[in-house]
Formats: sequence, C-alpha cells, structure tokens
Amino acid sequence: MELKTAIQKRHSTHKFSSKKPDWRDIIESLDYSRFAPMAGDIYNLKWILIEDKEKIQKIAKAAQQNFIATAHYLVVACSEPKLTVNAYGERGEKYTRQQAGAAIQNFLLALEERGLATCWIGHFVDNQIQNILHIPGDIEIEAVFPIGYEYPGIHRRKRKIELDRITYYHKWKEEKMRRPPEPRRNA
Ligand SMILES: Cc1cc2nc3c(=O)[nH]c(=O)nc-3n(C[C@H](O)[C@H](O)[C@H](O)COP(=O)(O)O)c2cc1C
Repeated sequence: MELKTAIQKRHSTHKFSSKKPDWRDIIESLDYSRFAPMAGDIYNLKWILIEDKEKIQKIAKAAQQNFIATAHYLVVACSEPKLTVNAYGERGEKYTRQQAGAAIQNFLLALEERGLATCWIGHFVDNQIQNILHIPGDIEIEAVFPIGYEYPGIHRRKRKIELDRITYYHKWKEEKMRRPPEPRRNA
C-alpha cells in the first residue's frame, strides 16, 4: 500500500467484526515502531499484546468504553521515561511523549496496511490498567489500542482540517507566504 493511501485511509474504529486477526500481523505492525525517531536513539517504549478476554474486559471498564471489550486483541503502549530523562533531564519527559506518538503512528499505518482497524484510546484510569497488567509506577501508559477488523459499512469519512488553517509562514499567525522583494539589479 502506498504511504499516502495508508495515511489517508487510517481512521478510528469503534465497531469490530467477529473475525479474529492473526496476532502475527499485529507483531509485524509493532515492528514498524522500531524505526520511529527517538531522542538520542534511546527507545523507551514497550508494547503489551493482550488476548485474554477477561483482561480485555477489565481494561474496557478502566477506560469506560464498552466497545473495547469487543476487540479480539489489545495493545498497550508504555513508556519508560527515566531512560530519556537520565539523558536529557526534565526535557526527557517531553521527548518521551513526542516519540511515543511517532512510534504509535508508524504502528497505526502498519495496521492500516494489513487491513486491520483500531482506535487510539487515551482516556482510562491509569492505576487500574497498571494493576491489571502489573505495570510498575514509573512506567507511563501512553495509550491502549483495541484491534480487529472493522465492522463493514459503518465508516463515514470525516472531513479533515484544511492545510491553510494550520500553516503559518515566517512567524506565528502569518497566513500568507510573502516572499521578500527581489533585489534590484544594477542597470
Ligand atoms: C491522544 C489521543 C487520545 C484519544 N483517546 C480516545 C479515546 O479515549 N476514545 C476514543 O474513542 N477515541 C480516542 N481518540 C481518537 C480520536 O477521537 C480520533 O483520532 C479523532 O476523532 C479523529 O478521528 P480519526 O482517528 O478517525 O481520524 C484519541 C486520539 C488521540 C490522538
């Protein structure tokens, strides 16, 4: 699949079909995350793949989003900020967030390439998921991804924000690309 097609087709899914994905497709998609940029090339992200129905149900509860329980698999993305904070101090916290996003997007595009569907879940009670998965307190749970095949016929394409509403030129709020005048040529 073309990169542009994967980027444009990717969307959040809230309803899965009953078809179970091959877990190896999920692992192959996670492999794409290794190629994301990481500050100092320190990879501080870990992934947990979950198949156990009971755990999936508990996590759906911790997120207060019932549709999560209908997925065959969950992937939970966790950062270990101290690895990056050790190298960069306080700024390492910011880098950790940013690079998790970059790695996650690689993962999402790889899922899209394989025809799999997901939704980025950021709303959940952290300590509940920590308990369910035995995640230590110094590990940050970045997001949860229920994974399956999309239930056919439900997706309606959303209009995305136009580029000219999110791009400035030369300085904050400058919305036009003004070029400096050409220097006069001597006659
Ligand atoms: C950081 C973050 C947190 C999100 N948390 C949730 C969530 O808890 N539940 C949910 O249904 N969608 C969640 N989403 C998905 C967004 O609602 C979705 O990406 C947005 O509506 C755009 O739709 P699209 O993904 O189909 O392009 C989250 C997305 C991001 C990036």
